Amino acid sequence: MPDELQWMHPEFAPECLNSGCRAPPMPQCDSACCHCRARGDQSAWPCGLFPSSASFSPPSLSGRIPPWLQGTLLRNGPGMHTVGDSRYNHWFDGLALLHSFTIRDGEVYYRSKYLKSDTYNANVEANRIVVSEFGTMAYPDPCKNIFSKAFSYLSHTIPDFTDNCLINIMRCGEDFYATTETNYMRRINPQTLETLEKTHIHIIDQRTRKPVPTRFYTDAMVVFHHVNAYEEGGCIVFDVITYKDSSLYDLFYLANLNQDFEENSRLTSVPTLRRFAVPLHVDGNAEVGTNLIKVASTTATALKERDDQVYCQPELLLEGLELPQINYTHNGKPYRYVFAAGVQWSPIPTQILKYDTLTKSSLRWGEESCWPAEPLFVPAPGAKDEDDGVILSAIVSTDPQKLPFLLILDAKSFTELARASLAVEMHLDLHGLFIPDADGAARNQATSETEQAPASGCQGPHRPDGAGGLGLP
Ligand SMILES: [Fe+2]
Repeated sequence: MPDELQWMHPEFAPECLNSGCRAPPMPQCDSACCHCRARGDQSAWPCGLFPSSASFSPPSLSGRIPPWLQGTLLRNGPGMHTVGDSRYNHWFDGLALLHSFTIRDGEVYYRSKYLKSDTYNANVEANRIVVSEFGTMAYPDPCKNIFSKAFSYLSHTIPDFTDNCLINIMRCGEDFYATTETNYMRRINPQTLETLEKTHIHIIDQRTRKPVPTRFYTDAMVVFHHVNAYEEGGCIVFDVITYKDSSLYDLFYLANLNQDFEENSRLTSVPTLRRFAVPLHVDGNAEVGTNLIKVASTTATALKERDDQVYCQPELLLEGLELPQINYTHNGKPYRYVFAAGVQWSPIPTQILKYDTLTKSSLRWGEESCWPAEPLFVPAPGAKDEDDGVILSAIVSTDPQKLPFLLILDAKSFTELARASLAVEMHLDLHGLFIPDADGAARNQATSETEQAPASGCQGPHRPDGAGGLGLP
């Protein structure tokens, strides 16, 4: 896997992208200056940024991208599982690979780059895995092994805990951070994907808030991803993807992934969307056994067992989905649609689906040999309905004859609007977000007004705030 891949808009490449070179790029080469371009040791692509074995071509586009869709889909996930002769045990351990699809004026530009975390730098410098991850233990006492000298030398660079932020992208104001499950995150440049400084997460103890005296409980389950939560009719309604056991984690050990999926990668429990309802107040006069939920929109129950103990039983909404997303303007509010990856007994998604929590119906997109990533919803400017917008998903193909592509679906009908196929080695990722291009949105507002598009009625560019920030594996 090369360090970075890109097919960029000239606007995004004001400098040669070769490491340490800041010269202006050649006019005919969007990413390299003439010196780097001419260097004999660089292969087919300028600056060696593109794999020498690949024949490069810009994304091949089919369909039509809505003119209002301007911005960058920024995503994160594991990209490198081998360092030197050492190998991670678990798929969730891989060194973070950021990748982005920039949509500009109906065209798509792609870029990927490894997160230059302290973990990445220490591993690369040692040419082996020297920082432990979730499923991989580095040498527990490096001073006692043959690498002692190297470790003594590297000790100032090895982080105390991994900062390999491969899980998600978080937006804080105008800053963007790659995040993981430890207390480190790394600020990144969302345009160039360069890694900036490290950030500590500070946890604030809100001592002024007293805990609710009632104890709520339910049956044992495993939850990786929450969908949404809101208040309705005196209770908190929340939707989560649940498992009966932790078999999902087990299946992502690389030893399991390397075996035949059909034979060895079957989940022992299917991910299931369930709706819980928790009463905000427990009626002291209610009899034991009373269902405290009075909301008509759900069959979830909360049975009073004692004045200070309530048993919650969820409503089963849909089986076989993961990596849920919503129209994020409905985050924390009543909502109707869940967008998710469709999975069944294998942990790898094979479909994208839209679930209607009101009608309990679903729409699906799927294609032979395609593995879709988490679908992200992007609202249309001036959207009236919750599902006015598009779905973006990076699709990896298991068919070597079929290129990976960025898929754009109409979120309402779930029909394909466009796809941009890319001659790159794209990895299955985890989470991400869409960064609307404010200038582009404003430009297209003017365009749509000029064209008097039927779906217009624009009241200004719509900017979702931090879409995609829900998930933690
Ligand atoms: Fe996750």
